[in-house]
Amino acid sequence: MVKRIGILTSGGDCAGLNATMRGVVLAADQLMDCEFYGIQNGFEGLMHGEIAKMEVSDFADILELGGTILHSHRTPFKRMRIIEDGFDKVKAMIDNYQKFELDCLVCLGGAGTHKNANMLKGEGLNVIALPKTIDNDIFGTELSFGFSTAVEIATDVIDRVVTTARSHDRVMVVEIMGNKTGWLALNSAIATKADMVLIPEIPYDEEKIVKSIREIKDGGKRYAIVVVAEGAKSIDEAAMSKKDYLKLWETYPEKDVGARIVNLITKSTGLEGRLVKPGHQLRGGTPNCADRVLSTKIGVFAAQLIKDEKFGKAVSIRKNKCIASPLEDIAGKTKKIPVDGELVATARLTGIKFGD
Ligand code: F6P
Repeated sequence: MVKRIGILTSGGDCAGLNATMRGVVLAADQLMDCEFYGIQNGFEGLMHGEIAKMEVSDFADILELGGTILHSHRTPFKRMRIIEDGFDKVKAMIDNYQKFELDCLVCLGGAGTHKNANMLKGEGLNVIALPKTIDNDIFGTELSFGFSTAVEIATDVIDRVVTTARSHDRVMVVEIMGNKTGWLALNSAIATKADMVLIPEIPYDEEKIVKSIREIKDGGKRYAIVVVAEGAKSIDEAAMSKKDYLKLWETYPEKDVGARIVNLITKSTGLEGRLVKPGHQLRGGTPNCADRVLSTKIGVFAAQLIKDEKFGKAVSIRKNKCIASPLEDIAGKTKKIPVDGELVATARLTGIKFGD
């Protein structure tokens, strides 16, 4: 019997989405009698029936291509069950899955996508979720595709900032994406021997930040590099409820944490500071070599799961190998940096301060 495989990409894009889909399609085509149905715009497209049959040749040459040929969309999990203007999103997705006679749905995405996929599993659909995100925060997997490329881009940005910081004797604050975790910031800080890194997992103390910057200056170094994860919080902020924290933010003149840190340092030390904020560059462009291999490996593994009809799974990387875990064990959890783990110790023992 021909297996009809639906594929979608959901949430923020990253390098490696196309490479992963290519892996799924090329391997599935060899392993079984199957057809491929591309779903545009993630779960949004599944709701609205934006689904079309695609050929193997559509996927064959996209290994190095950034972004996603299927387009992506953010469809927050918390709104999935809300009926809007009489439109039942979950029912619409199930109806289209059935209408197109899909045998399974491969969902490439991050933490939100895993939650949506798990919900569809609960509705009886055959789903497989593949770990995509530059944030590297998906629970249960050591790595997600897109992360390695993003770390490489962040590292390149910081390297370039170092030379200009040195020329101008400045403190350069580089704000790095990563949502509520500091994986991207910490890895790129270690890779560039930054002076300081601020991450959500280790709330900072403003006085300690200022003290460390002064010590760097007093030690004779004429510039400093501070890498700030976009989700970094002060000790006081971290102790607040989400609601109070958001209220507090409205009172700040700065729009982002990087700008707050620049202002703190310039006001308290008299040093000149600048903010550098690479944003979506971290998600763009071609996947690096590591992500091409990882994506292909994950895609091929997913094809094997489809062949064996092992559905309701999230693919994870453990000890450099692909494994399949029940989606409900992965969805709804966040992988944070262990504060007493190897990565933090590596940074501390090579002189990187955390502002704590
Ligand atoms: O999850 C990936 C990510 O790039 C985060 O690091 C960042 O917080 C967010 O997406 C940005 O989202 P958007 O592309 O919707 O602005």
